Amino acid sequence: MNEQQLIETARRMVANDKGLLAMDESNPTCNKRFAKLAIPQNVETRRAYRELIVTTPHLGECISGAILYDETIRQHKKDGTPFIKVLSDAGIIPGIKVDSGAKDLAAHPGEKITEGLDGLRDRLKEYFQMGARFAKWRAVIAVGSGIPSLGCIEANAQALARYAGLCQEAGLVPVVEPEVLMEGDHSLERCRETTTGVLLTVFSHLYTQRVMLEGMILKANMVLPGLVCPKQESVNEVADATVKCLLRSVPAAVPAIAFLSGGQSCELASARLNAMNAGSKPSLPWGLAFSFARAIQQPALEIWKGDEANVRAAQDALYHRAQCNRAARRGEYSPAMEETRVLTHA
Ligand code: G3H
Repeated sequence: MNEQQLIETARRMVANDKGLLAMDESNPTCNKRFAKLAIPQNVETRRAYRELIVTTPHLGECISGAILYDETIRQHKKDGTPFIKVLSDAGIIPGIKVDSGAKDLAAHPGEKITEGLDGLRDRLKEYFQMGARFAKWRAVIAVGSGIPSLGCIEANAQALARYAGLCQEAGLVPVVEPEVLMEGDHSLERCRETTTGVLLTVFSHLYTQRVMLEGMILKANMVLPGLVCPKQESVNEVADATVKCLLRSVPAAVPAIAFLSGGQSCELASARLNAMNAGSKPSLPWGLAFSFARAIQQPALEIWKGDEANVRAAQDALYHRAQCNRAARRGEYSPAMEETRVLTHA
């Protein structure tokens, strides 16, 4: 393991107030999102959509790394240029999702375990040779009556730690993502308690597996009330609860925490990230960044709708969200930004 290189890559992944663009939807997830907009669900439309994303002009001004999926990392632009080269030329570090999805956890109804450790060492070697410099593994923790169980939290935390160790051995920075889901009617307080417990367990396993904290990124959920909880706290209350939870559970050696959006609206995700950075940035031990999929991509996907004629307008929308989130890292985002869109093709 080249420690210095891992530390340097992790630093570059969150440098200059940029963040990560998650474009690593598995084929079934991507197809589901296409189906909602009546976009044909096949390998060519998925390729065309990903070409739209990676060729967005000026994307590298706001995005430092892009997380790809196994199909996507092997794909090319129509003119034959590999996506990996397009990203690297734009100053964007290519990353790769390496888990093989969340499956039912035996004897734990309603809970999932993320799989993909078998053969991972060889897959990581191949991805490194292809040009990837970081990886992602997502564990999902559902909140409900009697869940999450200790069995679910422990099993997922151990898998995350084993994945992270293998990544560092292969020279890839692990993005460690234990996601406490928003689905449900649980309170913000329940999410805070659950997230704290999950993160403490994950870091205990990372310690046991000898993962170098300076050479990883934590991808975390914000501390939020469940989607259908009747009480929805304000932007500042969410920001405050999230920062307090992270201060209690994330070691200072971790360079940055990059949030997932998890089903929040684009505007709320930006506003909440902004509130955290505006309020406490100078006193925090780690950077607070973003690693959004839906909260960056969704407006672009809705404009594109599978039609070549809409590519430029979709790229403008993607660039706009990337800009809003970079501003949120600086504590400089405001809802007024939503009205003043800079066109990347202007
Ligand atoms: O692993 C989760 C995704 O990379 C983040 O997706 O921002 O749509 O929740 P999201």
